[in-house]
Amino acid sequence: MPRIVVIGSANADLVLDIDHRPGAGETVLGSDVVVTAGGKGANQAVAAGRLGGDVAFVGCVGDDGYGELLRRSLADAGVDVTHLRTVPGASGNAIILLTPDGENSIIVSPSANRRVTVELLEESRAAWAGAAVVVLQLEIPLATVAHAATTAHAAGARVILNAAPAAALPPEVLAAADALVVNESEAAFLLGGVPAQAAEPGGAAATAVALLDLGPRSVVLTLGADGAVLAARGAEPGHVPARKVTAVDTTGAGDAFVGALAVELADGRDLRAAVELATDVAGVAVGRRGAQAAYPAREEVR
Ligand code: RIB
Ligand code: NA
Repeated sequence: MPRIVVIGSANADLVLDIDHRPGAGETVLGSDVVVTAGGKGANQAVAAGRLGGDVAFVGCVGDDGYGELLRRSLADAGVDVTHLRTVPGASGNAIILLTPDGENSIIVSPSANRRVTVELLEESRAAWAGAAVVVLQLEIPLATVAHAATTAHAAGARVILNAAPAAALPPEVLAAADALVVNESEAAFLLGGVPAQAAEPGGAAATAVALLDLGPRSVVLTLGADGAVLAARGAEPGHVPARKVTAVDTTGAGDAFVGALAVELADGRDLRAAVELATDVAGVAVGRRGAQAAYPAREEVR
């Protein structure tokens, strides 16, 4: 059984460069569309695979051409795709609008990712319930995430829950997480709209501690160019700064962070050391175009 199992989404990313984001009723001309492999779950699995992690992916792609692209990208990164299902119909898609500052706006059309049901997961239970680390995000049905989180936690796995995109989560799901990984807007959502005050690490540390009160054993709050703060029960919160990088494309940088965190925690590193490597990996990812296409091998980090 692989040490790390990522359960989640795979999307074909349809990437378009635009000068500025269109407002309501506005039409803008963009570049040609570039199709690349993405989806938060698959991205995290690929990031972990590139770093040498022993990782499997559980999810669904469609029987359109995109499904093969997504499967190949995972397999090329060394990810075990035994439990990647091909289902009739469309693969998940993400329409990604990139502006010159390296920022993006993303619309996800889940399609095949909706088929990652509790029943489907039960068929591959032996493959994930006893893994050392189980990684989850929120682009598959929430009932599936809840089932996987609580089952894996009860079986003794360490559950890394990336609560992205933001969604309301039942207390037992948050309580199963170690670590809960969120960015500032996801943190604000989970805390009921309280802003993260990221400019100042002290404010972000308070946010991370507030997230701990929701039940996870540890919290990692990612702050983009400001790095990340971590908080765990019974310890002082810490701040890990990021190296200075020029952002080319931030798409999937958070997923690279989560994949790296999974590898380091599965290897027995402590949370701070894991967050340090994850921050460096995310820094490499923002300097290159694309999501999976941007993820580094271990030799390229540090
Ligand atoms: O986190 C980045 C990812 O979000 C993209 O690859 C896109 O597919 C969406 O899922
Ligand atoms: Na990138």
